[in-house]
Amino acid sequence: MSSAGDGAQATRKTSLTGIKPTGEPHLGNLIGAIEPAIEMAAGDYESLYFIADYHALTTARDPELLAQWTRSVAATWLAAGLDPQRTVFYRQSDVPETFELTWVLSCITGKGLMNRAHAYKAARDANVAAGEDPDAGINMGLYNYPILMAVDILIMEAHAVPVGRDQAQHVEIAADIAGSFNHLYGSRYRFVVPEAVIPPETTGHTLPGLDGRKMSKSYDNYIPLFLPASKLRKLVRRIPTDSTPVEAPKDPDSSAVFQILAQFASDDVVADTRARLEAGGVGWGDLKNQLADVLEERLAPMRERYEALMEPGSELDDALAKGGEIARERASRVLRSVRHAVGIG
Ligand code: TRP
Repeated sequence: MSSAGDGAQATRKTSLTGIKPTGEPHLGNLIGAIEPAIEMAAGDYESLYFIADYHALTTARDPELLAQWTRSVAATWLAAGLDPQRTVFYRQSDVPETFELTWVLSCITGKGLMNRAHAYKAARDANVAAGEDPDAGINMGLYNYPILMAVDILIMEAHAVPVGRDQAQHVEIAADIAGSFNHLYGSRYRFVVPEAVIPPETTGHTLPGLDGRKMSKSYDNYIPLFLPASKLRKLVRRIPTDSTPVEAPKDPDSSAVFQILAQFASDDVVADTRARLEAGGVGWGDLKNQLADVLEERLAPMRERYEALMEPGSELDDALAKGGEIARERASRVLRSVRHAVGIG
């Protein structure tokens, strides 16, 4: 059997990505991030996916919520079909070597590079615009965030890093840091220089949310993935529609309900629904009922699996423990080389 940890990394290229547990998983995450990433994990690359729980600590202040989100995000990925036999699936916090390497790489990273990172710059600009001290409310975790992310990538010697457009700069920073290290110590150890893999505009499906804007945690307009059927139906009823009467023909493409349906129903059902809307005689209420049915059918099996995984002592704990062990072994091998390269120990 070829398993994720059988030492094939010397020949196969590695793809790695991190998932920050900062909220309840929703329909938009499933369509926009989780499913495409799971599809990619089934490809030719050796894949490593991890929950970036320490990254979440830059903003999370409620310990119970952080623990719950970490577990629930992990359960969501497994319920959605990530196969932990093929992908090394682990928690960042289970690889403490990360933090030792963070110090080493901090010592060779220019402060100016961090000053230019988008997230920090945006926070500073917002403070300046509000007439505050430029660094008001900015913690060192936010400032150092890109170094920790670089370490996540470099310590696993990843070649490809599938991320959304907003994270591309962070991967470039990781490549820069790898370059600095290789320049200084390359005769003793060389990091793999990673590259971001950004999905083309056209494949990045986004879903409209309950207010018609893009479904997103920050707009608080999302439909959580694992609601009881009755609650799911209630939320679907809240999606805004116009006041076109039942008999009138309708434009499917301007309807948020239809756009969500289009991502979850089969091609045949989508084509048929489109035709019926355009013909008139179908009300928005009917369409919402149909969407609730389609979602329930798709999500019910996933929800069942998710709930089983969320039970204490479930397969989830097993999978994360195994993944953590493999990840940690890789990390300690790299860290040993780095320590030797820089002259420690
Ligand atoms: N910063 C990423 C995000 O917010 C999460 C992340 C942490 C990550 N470490 C990573 C992504 C390493 C890719 C590789 O989405």
